[in-house]
Amino acid sequence: MKNKFEKPLFTQHVFVCTMGKACSEVGGEEVCGALRKQVLERGLKGQIRINKAGCFDQCGHGPMAVVYSQGTWFAHIKPEDANRLIDAIVNDDDSQVQDLLYSGEGRIKT
Ligand code: FES
Repeated sequence: MKNKFEKPLFTQHVFVCTMGKACSEVGGEEVCGALRKQVLERGLKGQIRINKAGCFDQCGHGPMAVVYSQGTWFAHIKPEDANRLIDAIVNDDDSQVQDLLYSGEGRIKT
């Protein structure tokens, strides 16, 4: 589906904390780049949008990402996790990313 400007309406948005101080210091940009690479390589550019984002107020668990429409949060992501994270999003199956799921417990504020 496309909007009136012929741009695709994405079915999934992945927000990656790249601009928050804590996540930027532990590789938020690299995670964002790895996720974008996966989306491009898989031909999913019109379906999954990887957005850079500011602080999620969950500092200390980064790099972090949150996926909508699922509303699923991920923490301590490494660039090498991008493949299985995109798998989880595409298949709507978190079974292979259990170690990355974040519930908000143990929140560390900076
Ligand atoms: S800097 Fe990423 S959650 Fe705060």
